[in-house]
Amino acid sequence: MAREIFIVGCGYTGFKVAQREQKRGAHVRALVRSPGGAERLRASGIEPVPGDLDDRASLAALPVDESIIYYFVPPPAHGVDDPRLHAFLDAIGPQTRPHRLVLLSTTGVYGDCVGMWIDEERPPNPQTDRARRRLAAEQELQGWAHARGVPFAILRVAGIYGPGRLPIERLQRGSPVLREAESPWSNRVHVDDLVTACLAAADQNDSGRVYNISDGHPTTMTDYFNRVADACGLPRPLQISREQAKGTMSPEMLSYLSESRRLDNSRMRTELGVVLRYLTLADGLRACFRHPSAPPRAAGNGAGTDALPSAGRQEQN
Ligand SMILES: NC(=O)c1ccc[n+]([C@@H]2O[C@H](COP(=O)([O-])OP(=O)(O)OC[C@H]3O[C@@H](n4cnc5c(N)ncnc54)[C@H](OP(=O)(O)O)[C@@H]3O)[C@@H](O)[C@H]2O)c1
Repeated sequence: MAREIFIVGCGYTGFKVAQREQKRGAHVRALVRSPGGAERLRASGIEPVPGDLDDRASLAALPVDESIIYYFVPPPAHGVDDPRLHAFLDAIGPQTRPHRLVLLSTTGVYGDCVGMWIDEERPPNPQTDRARRRLAAEQELQGWAHARGVPFAILRVAGIYGPGRLPIERLQRGSPVLREAESPWSNRVHVDDLVTACLAAADQNDSGRVYNISDGHPTTMTDYFNRVADACGLPRPLQISREQAKGTMSPEMLSYLSESRRLDNSRMRTELGVVLRYLTLADGLRACFRHPSAPPRAAGNGAGTDALPSAGRQEQN
């Protein structure tokens, strides 16, 4: 019998997971909320299952029996819980038994760790509603999976980067960054390595484990923007003090900049057996600009290359 996969949130990461699973011979279904999205999936050999997690009535009995479920949908932008995950779990009929569920969360659940190295034993301490929603989703999944006897894994993911997921438009806009000395530690993972971790988490036998997913080589956020600028031939961004930033950056951006931590990824390497392809940002960026779908140098940079907006996505790490 083919390996059955159900992807919830077949976006940047989910689509790459789908492709990697297809290469292994899996049959892949994915939840999709627009006809255009369904067409795109079908063209790639993925079976679309219509449904919008913001509209419970649209969620018919989901075909997830015996399937590995990868859940990639972020919570909505408001509130302190995750009604989307709730709606999804509610739509799994009582007689349906998924094989396993892998949930993508973020390292934001740890809150500010004043630059310390942290592993998964660090108690979560979310300091924003954004992070509270993520922790609520983790807890909801844990409760549901225990009650239903469904094995699961939770991946707390650092900032995702990769081809088409670099803050190029932000750099082109000339948005400033914090002075290096005041810039918090930030953690990242190349999307190909994240995909490897997702599949490893789906394949393992343990249940209920939480994993930090990062390349294990944090640098400051300012260093990140500088390196991306260098890699695509753009000027490095202007550096400003934290005091100056208070007058110019958005509250969301400032909240990201108020958290600093360095992620220990030992558990990912030892328990999941993940061997990273891109150990450092330098390795990963080189690969981004070699990739066939990568933007050429900055001048030729088109749409879709700024999936790390102002810092929003990066700072979910
Ligand atoms: N970006 C980062 O640096 C980062 C870091 C840590 C964790 N994460 C988390 O990792 C996960 C994957 O990230 P990503 O960047 O690959 O995500 P992404 O490209 O933004 O994809 C998210 C997917 O969720 C779908 N979705 C959103 N709302 C939905 C709804 N109401 N019903 C059904 N589907 C819905 C989207 O569908 P449409 O295509 O229809 O919009 C899209 O396919 C997300 O939870 C993200 O927040 C991201």
